[in-house]
Amino acid sequence: MSAEWIAGPGAPLRGELDVPGDKSVSHRAIMLAAIADGVSRIDGFLEGEDTRATAAVFSQLGARIETPEEGVRIVHGVGIDGLRAPKAALDCGNAGTAMRLLAGLLSGQDFDCELVGDASLSKRPMRRVTEPLARMGARIDTADGGLPPLRIRGGSALRGIDYTSEVASAQVKSAVLLAGLRAEGETVVREAQPTRDYTERMLAAFGWPIEFAPGLARLSGGHRLRATDVAVPADFSSAAFFIVAATVVPGSDLTLKRVGLNPRRTGLLHVLRAMGADIAEIGRGECGGDPVADLRVRHAPLRGIDVPLIHVSDMIDEFPALFVAAACAEGTTRVRGAAELRVKESDRLAAMASGLTGLGVRVQEFADGADIQGGPFGGGRIDSHGDHRVAMSFAAAAQAGKGELRIADVANVSTSFPGFVEKAIAVGFRIAAISA
Ligand code: S3P
Repeated sequence: MSAEWIAGPGAPLRGELDVPGDKSVSHRAIMLAAIADGVSRIDGFLEGEDTRATAAVFSQLGARIETPEEGVRIVHGVGIDGLRAPKAALDCGNAGTAMRLLAGLLSGQDFDCELVGDASLSKRPMRRVTEPLARMGARIDTADGGLPPLRIRGGSALRGIDYTSEVASAQVKSAVLLAGLRAEGETVVREAQPTRDYTERMLAAFGWPIEFAPGLARLSGGHRLRATDVAVPADFSSAAFFIVAATVVPGSDLTLKRVGLNPRRTGLLHVLRAMGADIAEIGRGECGGDPVADLRVRHAPLRGIDVPLIHVSDMIDEFPALFVAAACAEGTTRVRGAAELRVKESDRLAAMASGLTGLGVRVQEFADGADIQGGPFGGGRIDSHGDHRVAMSFAAAAQAGKGELRIADVANVSTSFPGFVEKAIAVGFRIAAISA
C-alpha cells in the first residue's frame, strides 16, 4: 500500500502557519549534544523521520536522549571520547545529512560501525565524503561506485587537512569538520561557493574554537564541547512550498511564523522577489543564533527570470518549489548550475521536468538545469519518485492549476514535514491523503 494525495484546484490561502523545525539544525543539535559534556535541551526539534533517525543512531552509540514532549529532546552527552560501539548497523533512513555527517564524526572512533540507508539513500554518492576523509586517514569501505552502505573501520588516527571542496555541499564541509574534531592538527575547508554554516555556528555555540566566514572554516582537534541549549528555528525549506503557493494562488494572504532566514538558505526569497513576489518580513528576531521573521506572503503575478548563479546553492533545496513558481509565471525561467539536483532524494531536475510536462507545461531539461515556460496547466497524475520536496511542490502547484492532481508515492513527506496535509488544509489547501 502506498500513500497518495488528491490535490487542488485551490482557493485563496489565508491565515497563519507554523512550519516544523529546521532539519539541518535538528540533525546537528543531536550530534553535537551527544558528544558534549553535560546535558543539552533542544527546543523546536523536527519530529521528522530523518532527524529521528539521527537521534536513534546516537541512542545506539550510547547517548541517553529523552523526549519529555513533542519537539523537545534532552540529550545526556557522553563527551568527545564517550561514544561506544553499536550492536547493529546504524540506519540513516532517507537522510543524506545523517549519513554524510556521521561518516565524518565516526571515522575517528575506536570502534567499527556500518551506516545504512533506505533505497533512495543507497543510490546517493558518498565518495564526496569518503575521499576527503580517507585523506585524513579514515578507512571507509563503500559498495560499488562509492555508494552506501559505509563500513567504517575504527582505530584510525586522523590528521587534519586543508581541503577545497569540489562540490558546493554543506554535508561534505561538515563531514570533514566533524572528523577534524578528533584529528591531530588543523582542519581547513575552503569552498568556492559558500554553503550553509550551521555546523560551524553550532560548534561555536558548544564552545569549540572555530574560525569561519563564507567560503572558509578552520578548526583544530583536541578540545571538548560544552552542553548548551539549542532553539531550532522553523525550516525555511518547509515554508517554501507555502511561500510559492500563496504567491501563485490569486487572493492569498498567508503569514508563516518565525521562519529561519539564515542567508545561506534564503536564495528563493531573492529570486521570487526578482520575479515579482510580494513577501514581507515582519518582526525580525533571532532564534538559536539565526535571524528569524514572520513572512507575510500575498498573491502577486510573476514573470520568468534567469536565476542568478550566485543564488543557486543558497536555494538548493527550493528548486522543486521554484519550478512551480516558474510554471505559474509569465515568460521563461532559466535555471543553470544546478546539476546537484540530480543527486538529491531523487533526480529533481528529471522529476520536476517530467511532472510539469505531463501537466502541459513546456520544460526543456539540461544537464545542469531547465528552461520552464510559464502558462496555464491542467490536472493529471504525478509520480513524486518518493521525494518529499517533489511531492509538496506538486501539492502547491495543484492549488494554482486548472484540474485535480493525483500525486503518488508521498509517504516520504514525513521525513521532513510531519503533519503537512493537516497544516496545508488549515490555511486553505485542497488536498486529501488516500491509500492506494
Ligand atoms: C544539508 C545540505 C544540503 C541540502 C540538504 C541538507 C545539510 O545538501 O540539500 O537538504 O544539512 O547540510 P548538500 O550538502 O548535498 O548540498
